[in-house]
Amino acid sequence: MKLDQHIFLIGFMGCGKSTCAACLCRMTGAEQIEMDQEIVKRQGMEITEIFRVHGEEYFRDLETDLIKEIGNMEPMVVSCGGGTVLREENVALMKAAGRIVLLTAEPETVFDRVKGSADRPVLNGNMNLSYIKELMEARRPRYEAAADAAVATDGRTAEEICEEILEQR
Ligand code: S3P
Repeated sequence: MKLDQHIFLIGFMGCGKSTCAACLCRMTGAEQIEMDQEIVKRQGMEITEIFRVHGEEYFRDLETDLIKEIGNMEPMVVSCGGGTVLREENVALMKAAGRIVLLTAEPETVFDRVKGSADRPVLNGNMNLSYIKELMEARRPRYEAAADAAVATDGRTAEEICEEILEQR
């Protein structure tokens, strides 16, 4: 099934965006772009280092620049950073270029997936379930407002999730 527009996967850290993006690419033959990895490659610095040296706003600017570029590329599967939709401008750019699919997961699942991670500066010093719950709640309206569709991921395989995403088209 060939994509006729981008699919942007959004959602909180650890909700499965990268895994599902890879699976969607296998199923559609589309290319994958992993925003965090692309930014790391271009900057030659890890995300934590970018936050530490230049600050979060600078990182958010890099995300906006990248989203603009992606808008001019062939349709692909875009695995966004967990905070990409925090900027209205990014959401407008993404809406103009494709379909935005929100992946959701329970806070416990998210905590389990991210607890060993050393490169999630937003959780630095706060790597615990109660903070994750708090931040997920605070961000929930942004994710929901940006999304064209939402898919729950808990207890499901990437294939099941991706079939649902592709059926919704
Ligand atoms: C962030 C999520 C990260 C990364 C950066 C900021 C966030 O992406 O973009 O650390 O603000 O939620 P993942 O969702 O891929 O971990």
